[in-house]
Amino acid sequence: MTPDSALQLQKLGYECLIETGAGAKADFSDADYEAAGVTVVGSADDLWSQSDIIAKVRIPVDAELDRLTSDKTLITFFNPGGNEAGLEKAKEKGANVIAMEMVPRISRAQKMDALSSMANIAGYRAVIEAGNNFGRFFTGQITAAGKVPPAKVLVVGAGVAGLAAIGTSTSLGAITYAFDVRPEVAEQVESMGAEFVYLDFEEEQQDGAATGGYASVSSPEFREAQLAKFRELAPEVDIVITTALIPNREAPKLWLEDMIKAMKPGSVIVDLAAEKGGNAEGTVMDEKVVTDNGVTIIGYTDFPSRMARQSSTLYATNIRHMMTDLTPEKDGQINHDMEDDVIRGATVTHQGEITFPPPPPKVAAIAAKPKEKPVELTPEEKRAAEVAAFKAQTKQQVTLLAVGAAVLLGVGLIAPASFMQHFIVFVLAVFVGFQVIWNVSHSLHTPLMAVTNAISSIIILGALMQIGSGGGFLVVLLAAISVFFAGINIFGGFLVTRRMLAMFQKS
Ligand code: NAI
Repeated sequence: MTPDSALQLQKLGYECLIETGAGAKADFSDADYEAAGVTVVGSADDLWSQSDIIAKVRIPVDAELDRLTSDKTLITFFNPGGNEAGLEKAKEKGANVIAMEMVPRISRAQKMDALSSMANIAGYRAVIEAGNNFGRFFTGQITAAGKVPPAKVLVVGAGVAGLAAIGTSTSLGAITYAFDVRPEVAEQVESMGAEFVYLDFEEEQQDGAATGGYASVSSPEFREAQLAKFRELAPEVDIVITTALIPNREAPKLWLEDMIKAMKPGSVIVDLAAEKGGNAEGTVMDEKVVTDNGVTIIGYTDFPSRMARQSSTLYATNIRHMMTDLTPEKDGQINHDMEDDVIRGATVTHQGEITFPPPPPKVAAIAAKPKEKPVELTPEEKRAAEVAAFKAQTKQQVTLLAVGAAVLLGVGLIAPASFMQHFIVFVLAVFVGFQVIWNVSHSLHTPLMAVTNAISSIIILGALMQIGSGGGFLVVLLAAISVFFAGINIFGGFLVTRRMLAMFQKS
């Protein structure tokens, strides 16, 4: 909890408590919390006994789980996949536990995604830590004292941490390369000013859509091609930041001993996968080692703690958003809605049941859709297919025309001539309008909106004239409905435009 998030939690109807000194290492004093209306309690014991909902960072230890009761909710990192004993204990106690690492990766849940918040910090800090251990500038310079070449940075794995590292590295002026097994990130990498490293490899690179945006293990051939490319790059790059992870597995070894040997003295490797065994050979978890040829390998796993104020702020915001979703009525009462995809996904024990693993989310993760492979056709087959398609289309159009003509004739037999004239114009207008708008590509919907706004104003004018014409109740009612719907279009258009303009405004 930060003083800011405490204010937000109070708006949700909660009373906030914090253990004394809890914010000290993130530069939040007890007095800061008190000023935000938080009660500072003397010990963890008091905090657990006085609170209904407990939020913490680290996986709870046994003594903490012992303090759970059936009316308590615990929100924390829990590692449910590797913490069966913890799950059993929480189940026995009947407590509801929300595991922050289980927040599903869908757009709506991004604001609660603590893994991403922490990965973002780790990626940033990795570059800063590399710079701290690197004896040269990142950016190239031409000075009176000589020319300095820019540093070359390679980021392996362009997930959340990797992209943060790429952003930091390019903004410091280094030439940045990035590689990932998921090809859909190439565009993101390039849009950040880095160069995506492509492999000469036939097999399609992976697609993460099916696995919640995560990578899976690559084939041995792919791996060989990847290692060959890295071998080629090793003598050239000054800083390597590795972030490659595959969920529930040891980190793949990607930066091997011979590559480290090929690097220049003074080069730095920051291995963000150290906690899972490391991507580089020779990484020692939580330590910095220097190889015989002068390459520094950093295996720290506490990057977020090294930026405690930033991590606390982001994590507290993630928790606060989780609380907002848990408190739809803003009445200080948790509504643990197991029908909600995000809450369901993150809940690992609920009312005396283990609810991990959750069912797969109904909404797919943000990732590129797989490309459909075009089927190879011979020229004759192509021609035959085209002819068949043309015939089918013609048949459909002729049928439609015939049905339309029959309906018109039918109406014409009974309706007066003056009605028919308006009716035909109306039908044509609907038909032409539909054809025109249906064929507009998505990227042109904004200018299209401007045109529909103009049409809406014509509709409103026409409707107003009808209302004024004194043509009876039905006419007035229809005209009023037209004004209403055209109004939605106009005001909706203004609202959307305003939001879009706000996106381009500097705050
Ligand atoms: P991660 O920490 O599991 O892995 C890091 C990166 O390493 C991934 O990009 C992965 O493709 C890559 N990698 C794995 N094996 C590799 C290999 N052999 N060589 C090179 N790279 C390798 O992933 P992270 O950072 O947690 O997120 C991955 C993706 O998840 C994101 O890029 C994004 O598409 C998606 N995501 C979606 C969110 C949402 O929809 N709310 C939130 C956060 C992430």
